[in-house]
This record gives sequence, structure tokens and C-alpha cells, in this order.
Amino acid sequence: MVAIVTAEDIAMSYGSTSILKGVSFALEAGESLSLIGSNGAGKSTLIRCLLRLEPITTGRISLFGREIQNLKPSELRSTRCRVGVVFQRHNLVPRLSVLSNVVHGALGRNTQTFGSMISGITLWSHITAGSAHRERAMECLERVNLADLAHRRADSLSGGQSQRVAIARALMQDPDLIIADEPAASLDPIAGEEVMGLFSELCREAGVSLIFSTHNISHAVDFADRMMAMKSGRMSIDCPTGSVDLKALKAEYA
Ligand SMILES: Nc1ncnc2c1ncn2[C@@H]1O[C@H](COP(=O)(O)OP(=O)(O)OP(=O)(O)O)[C@@H](O)[C@H]1O
Ligand SMILES: [Mg+2]
Repeated sequence: MVAIVTAEDIAMSYGSTSILKGVSFALEAGESLSLIGSNGAGKSTLIRCLLRLEPITTGRISLFGREIQNLKPSELRSTRCRVGVVFQRHNLVPRLSVLSNVVHGALGRNTQTFGSMISGITLWSHITAGSAHRERAMECLERVNLADLAHRRADSLSGGQSQRVAIARALMQDPDLIIADEPAASLDPIAGEEVMGLFSELCREAGVSLIFSTHNISHAVDFADRMMAMKSGRMSIDCPTGSVDLKALKAEYA
């Protein structure tokens, strides 16, 4: 099996405060991995380190077989283009249409992750996008069952619909890996379930590897092949979801 992500004994600090303390794991191609842990456990920090948005102090992180600390800026950009990123708040450009927001995915960028691109991105519109991009964006919207809303302004959508657009935007990149930080956290239980179901189904269908964090233990078990739990910056569980004791897990982490 090919490792898509490898973290080897990584540590990370904010100033003198140690946040990640020797985290190791590997994610194989096509595998989905959930990440649980209480507030402040280090889930978002780990995700930011995987994208090299924060520097690690020791250890090694590799994406697609390349150690990310050693990548030149252009290599880092092309590596990030292979990763679709979805956050808790969808970060759509509010005044643009749903279709234009999905077309942004073709830039291989995420507006929150790559803040410097925001001004360029907000000027982007589907009128200037090539027809191939628009067609592909429509296909991605169809995959999340939102093609009928393609021309609606993004700020007129519900939370669940917005998050489905964010998924379509990530798919538009044709990524090898999707990393999602609490993608269902701002959604009601039904929309959250729907979005997570869609996420795992689309990733499985397309052979895309997936890492997502969540506070919903059932989502962590139902929508991933493997789960990891973090506690105070350390990995406390790393196991196949089929083998977990849901009751014990809920008692400890819910
Ligand atoms: N920019 C920052 N500067 C200093 N400390 C930070 C910063 N970001 C996060 N931290 C600290 O790092 C620790 C881990 O935070 P992180 O956001 O990774 O946790 P989390 O597991 O994602 O929590 P949550 O479930 O609340 O999202 C926390 O103690 C937090 O206060
Ligand atoms: Mg977090």
C-alpha cells in the first residue's frame, strides 16, 4: 500500500507551550481516517501542520512520499493543489454564485488556507472561467445534489447546502486527499449526517483519501475506516473503526 500521509514523531509548540507531543501515524491511499479529541487536544493544529501552515519543531511529515519541510515554494504549491481542504465554516465567497465558488476549486486553492489569494479569488467569476471549468463545476455540483442551485448567490444557502458546495469545490480540484476540520460542526444533526455520508461516499467512489476531525463519535466511527483519538497533544488511540467499543469511547471522549 502507498502512504499518502506519514507523520513521524512530530512535535509542535506555540512559543514555549508544547502543543503536539510526538504524534505518529500513516494514511494509506484510499483510506479514510477520523480524528477525535476534546477541545484543545490538538486536532486543528495537527491538520495545520500537515498542510505546513504551521511549522513543526521536530519529526517528519510526508505528503505523497515527499517530506513537506524540504519542499521549495513551487513544490509546496503543487503538493497543496493535490489536497482539498474543507473547514467547519465553509468559507464560500458570499456574493458570488454557487457555480463561481466551485470554479474556484480549479485554482487548487482554499480561500481560508491561502489568505493571500483572497483578493484574486473574489475577482474571479464564472464568466471569466473557461467552459471546461464550468462544465466540471456543474458535474461536481451534481455529485453533491446541488446542480439546481448553481446560479444562486452563495450567501442565500443554508449551512448544509453551503457545506455541500464546499465539498464540491474540494472535488473540483480532483484531489488525492481531502482534509476536513470539523466539516459537520456547524450543521444540525440531520444535515451533519447527510454531509458526512456524502463526504465518505464521494471519497470512496473516487478513491480519494480522507482525514476529518469531529466531536461526533458516531460520525468518527461510521464514516471512516480508521480512527485516531488525541489527548493533550498525544495520539491516544489509533485503530480500525470496526474494532472500537463505541460505548467506552463515548464515555471517554463525547
Ligand atoms: N495560534 C495559536 N497560538 C497559541 N496557541 C494556540 C494557537 N492555536 C491553538 N493554540 C492552542 O493549541 C492547543 C490545541 O488547539 P487546537 O485548536 O489544535 O485544538 P483542537 O483539538 O482543534 O480543539 P477544538 O476541538 O476546540 O477545535 C490549544 O491549547 C490552543 O489554545
Ligand atoms: Mg479544532
